[in-house]
Amino acid sequence: MFTARRVFGAVQRRSFSASSRQASKVTVLGAAGGIGQPLSLLLKLNPRVSQLALYDIRLAPGVAADIGHINTKSEVRGYDPTPSGLAEALKGTEIVLIPAGVPRKPGMTRDDLFNTNASIVRDLAKAAADYAPEANILIISNPVNSTVPITAEVFKSKGVYNPKRLFGVTTLDVVRASRFISQVKGTDPANENITVVGGHSGATIVPLLSQSGYNLSGEQLDEYVRRVQFGGDEVVQAKGGAGSATLSMAMAGARFAESLLKAAQGQKNVIEPTFVDSPLYKDKGCDFFASNVELGPNGVEKIHPVGKITEHEQKLLDVCLSDLSKNISKGVQFVKENP
Ligand code: NAI
Repeated sequence: MFTARRVFGAVQRRSFSASSRQASKVTVLGAAGGIGQPLSLLLKLNPRVSQLALYDIRLAPGVAADIGHINTKSEVRGYDPTPSGLAEALKGTEIVLIPAGVPRKPGMTRDDLFNTNASIVRDLAKAAADYAPEANILIISNPVNSTVPITAEVFKSKGVYNPKRLFGVTTLDVVRASRFISQVKGTDPANENITVVGGHSGATIVPLLSQSGYNLSGEQLDEYVRRVQFGGDEVVQAKGGAGSATLSMAMAGARFAESLLKAAQGQKNVIEPTFVDSPLYKDKGCDFFASNVELGPNGVEKIHPVGKITEHEQKLLDVCLSDLSKNISKGVQFVKENP
């Protein structure tokens, strides 16, 4: 498993070495946004990326011109919102990251974003299915619990769905869970790696502290769980209406993309938590579920089960599954009603 420090230390060191083992095109849809810009910057620093395609409905060529001056080898191109622009951004790509859509304002849940973001993700998924049907699709746009099923439905409708290549990016939950326990325990967050399962919103985010040998109880445990589940709200509040997490999210998205590239380029034991088409809780109505997933050249290599958990964690999981199944159905239903 890769901690933030290990990944970014490695990225920094390698970004000044000339050797990259393989060429990979990576595409960002929504590249000029609060997440898109720093995410594109971090991808430009990654020597595993040979081409970076930046698409947005505004400003992508400007962002590409700016980032393109950074002295790393990858070629950066920005694409305007024309049908051919989107197609060109997608053709031949290995990874498509989608942070396009609106972020939360104070008082909003991620589900409140559904009405706007569902159609944005549906339309971008259609383009990805047409022009990059074999790429890994990484969904960042919220509500992830619904936008991932939306993408799956679109790919199914076009006959190109590969469950091993679709990922909801939940890495930020793990990053936060690891950072927050280090603050409670006074440890180095780079050495923490808390497993987080379920989905990516409020009560569907379930941190499994016990699996890292921690044994918080009472108020301290409740406060920790609350902070992991609603950590995003801290940022939304602090930004006072100007958006949600962008910088920490960019780091989390870049880490996940880096892990996929490492796995694609032959590295073994690359494990990241992610929200995927999963057999674990299909019987509870959850066709998608986030747990630790081993990545490989074909995308999902192995989905790890949740494993041994405490009674308290089981209660959190029960609440999660009930909410999550509704979020998933909502996404599926949306595509049925608005194909
Ligand atoms: P933002 O508003 O700063 O940027 C969104 C970008 O998407 C804008 O540049 C906009 O022009 C672009 N866009 C809108 N419609 C588009 C379309 N049809 N095609 C291409 N680009 C389009 O928002 P921000 O802060 O970057 O957040 C983006 C999304 O990421 C939100 O839905 C937010 O809730 C989500 N998010 C997800 C997290 C996660 O952990 N998965 C964490 C934080 C945010």
